[in-house]
Amino acid sequence: MPTSLPRHVGIIMDGNGRWAQLRGQPRIEGHRVGADSVRDVTRAARQVGLEALTLYAFSSQNWARPADEAAAPMQLLRDYLVDERPEIMDNQIRLHAIGDLDRLPALVREPIDALCRDSAGHTGMTLTLALSYGGRESLARAARTLAARVVAGELAADAIDVDALGQALPT
Ligand code: FPP
Repeated sequence: MPTSLPRHVGIIMDGNGRWAQLRGQPRIEGHRVGADSVRDVTRAARQVGLEALTLYAFSSQNWARPADEAAAPMQLLRDYLVDERPEIMDNQIRLHAIGDLDRLPALVREPIDALCRDSAGHTGMTLTLALSYGGRESLARAARTLAARVVAGELAADAIDVDALGQALPT
């Protein structure tokens, strides 16, 4: 067991397509192997005692892929959520999702919503899935939230500081 650990690890799931192409396989095969490795990483993170693991699994920019290459990760994500549900529930993992979740198809949105709701009271590791997520998109959304509060008279424009911005961000 490690003697000192970071509290929070973030992993950007990138390179799946290149990994497969280098092996002469279809890019979608890279996504399948990538999804399998998520199972191993999540298990290892819980076993070593991380407080939080964030997986940047699908970016806002990934929607620009050809339709079949955007669809494959969605099906893999659904399979992951369905298969890992017992492990998440039995091990007190709290699932959290960030990003523009409204863009996700129902086949992903439904198991995510259910698992986020059902695991909300868990006190073990927090597993955050960043889906349809972009750093700049996230900042733009936070800016809209703060602007709406200013317009509503709830917040003074000059009270927007680092803390206020931080609280408006999804993480
Ligand atoms: C980037 O690789 C990765 C993706 C576009 C999708 C990754 C998501 C999954 C495999 C879904 C499963 C997720 C979980 C959390 C189980 P890339 O194609 O951009 O690789 P490249 O940089 O080589 O082109």
